[in-house]
Amino acid sequence: MQVQTKERSVEAVRGYWNAHTLGKQYVLNAGIVFGSAEFFDHVRPWMNPFKFPWIMDRIDREAVGLNGKHLLEIGCGLGYDSFEFLKRGVKVTSTDLTPEAIELTRRHFDVEGVQAESVHVENVLDLTFEDNAFDGVWANGVLHHTGDTQQAIREIRRVLKPGGRAIISHFYRKPSWMHLLSRLGRENIEYKDEDPPVTDFYTEAEVLSMFDGFVVEETANEHYRALPIARSGLKASLYNMAFKPAYNLVPELAAKRLAYKFSVTAVKQ
Ligand SMILES: C[S@@+](CC[C@H](N)C(=O)[O-])C[C@H]1O[C@@H](n2cnc3c(N)ncnc32)[C@H](O)[C@@H]1O
Repeated sequence: MQVQTKERSVEAVRGYWNAHTLGKQYVLNAGIVFGSAEFFDHVRPWMNPFKFPWIMDRIDREAVGLNGKHLLEIGCGLGYDSFEFLKRGVKVTSTDLTPEAIELTRRHFDVEGVQAESVHVENVLDLTFEDNAFDGVWANGVLHHTGDTQQAIREIRRVLKPGGRAIISHFYRKPSWMHLLSRLGRENIEYKDEDPPVTDFYTEAEVLSMFDGFVVEETANEHYRALPIARSGLKASLYNMAFKPAYNLVPELAAKRLAYKFSVTAVKQ
């Protein structure tokens, strides 16, 4: 399952993401101050719920059942997903492994004038919450970067109430075009400066086998259109100029089979 030879420790993961909070890489204008209202407006279009319509649809659907209930977000980054749930009347606890993400999420909520139940550092591999604490857990683009996806799902199950929902958008899937690209040479593909220390890919069967003690309610293959990536270098140029336009000509049904994102919504038994 491991595709990197880099160090996979929690410290390495924390160090990387603390320096590369997802979203910061889109701010190329030095005049935009990190954490300002202008910063959050600028970054918003690149964030998952705005870039991928199925994420906003999932938030819309899940927020109906979670209205007035307690949702834990794991790996909140800049807090955009948490904010969408807060706007829809869900009580949200926003957490991330890195102090930088937590600081920026707090500023984000201040700028928007919303109040979460709590915004603080948590490691999903060893959560500080009591058993059966939450009605839902949301993790978007996180678990495959932790170094121990199975342990993350065990912890999510532990803190969910019976009947609580684990809404995981998404795992990285193999076989997929992204999985193949990740194995080509040493050059980075998705991130601008440096790839994360851990990015694990799983078959659908491997993902589903990790949901012991859950009933899986929904699965989906997503991200079946390739978006341009904002970096330079041979691999990225080939990707932007050759792979992306060619791949986007593949008919939708076939392209979905090659999608690299695999999402799961599962209910704790
Ligand atoms: C790709 S970013 C996604 C951020 C956010 N969910 C979004 O979609 O914008 C991955 C996030 O996972 C967090 N993360 C990585 N390992 C974690 C862990 N063990 N516990 C909690 N968060 C973790 C990182 O700090 C980072 O903010």
